[in-house]
Amino acid sequence: MTQNRERHAAPRHFLMCPPEHFDVVYAINPWMDTTVPVDTGRAIRQWTALKDAYEARGHTVDVIDSEPGLPDMVYAANGGIVVGGQAIAARFAYPERAKEGPAYDAWFTGPAARARGIAALGQSGETQEGEGDLLLIGSTLLAGHGFRTTRAAHEEAARRLGLAEQGIGVVPLELVDPRYYHLDTALAVLDDGAGGNPPLVAYLPGAFAPESRAVLERMFPGAIIASDDDAAVLGLNVVSDGRTVFLTDRAGKLAEDIAAAGFDVVGVDLSELFKGGGSVKCCTLELRPGAVGQETSR
Ligand code: ARG
Repeated sequence: MTQNRERHAAPRHFLMCPPEHFDVVYAINPWMDTTVPVDTGRAIRQWTALKDAYEARGHTVDVIDSEPGLPDMVYAANGGIVVGGQAIAARFAYPERAKEGPAYDAWFTGPAARARGIAALGQSGETQEGEGDLLLIGSTLLAGHGFRTTRAAHEEAARRLGLAEQGIGVVPLELVDPRYYHLDTALAVLDDGAGGNPPLVAYLPGAFAPESRAVLERMFPGAIIASDDDAAVLGLNVVSDGRTVFLTDRAGKLAEDIAAAGFDVVGVDLSELFKGGGSVKCCTLELRPGAVGQETSR
């Protein structure tokens, strides 16, 4: 049983992309159905409410311009990974999303990122879908593979970001259920341990290969186990600041378990973005600053 602990929030910087061009015109995951219409106005209102919820809790949100012809660009988590003030942009598995890689790279290279002290390292050479598959928890990078991001991309990211030098180890996790094609649909980072609590995650065991399940059991004995129903509303696709957990308002028992573990739960309605196979975390890329002064070491 997860103990009810005191949880501590740390202010975060996020990057989000408005769903102005969001649509479901191709199907690259089992949630996408091109015959179901998307209400763009509603998507924008829902996305804005999420952004407002972050800002109301003291977090900073940068916005990258959405581009016509890139309907999935709203899922900013996939745009890359930023650790220690260094950014690697994604290289997408499907041609439909390929141009998002350079678009996010351009943002990392631009003035807004520089103002945040972020140095752009360029695009990944290997297939890598950013924080969709690469989730940092304390001194561990949980790295999904099986559908999108490859093992080679984990190694490339570790090398180029200098993770070992920063004391961060990589733990590969194999995904096996096509509905949970990105790690962030199968596992939620709830507490990264920064506030002094043991790191805490929630996950759906069935989304992982047996060996990876065993790794998770060993690493996180106190983890919250999600039900199939809560995973199927993408309830694991959360953002946590260590104290407040933002997740879909469709989650049931999972939201109760998270609250019982001492978190404030903010339920958000992202029903339009769900049509593309994404929820809260998918729409949110975390921009982790480097140590002061590190931004000049390009
Ligand atoms: N339609 C997008 C895709 O299939 C959804 C991406 C969701 N993002 C995420 N971080 N899981 O690529």
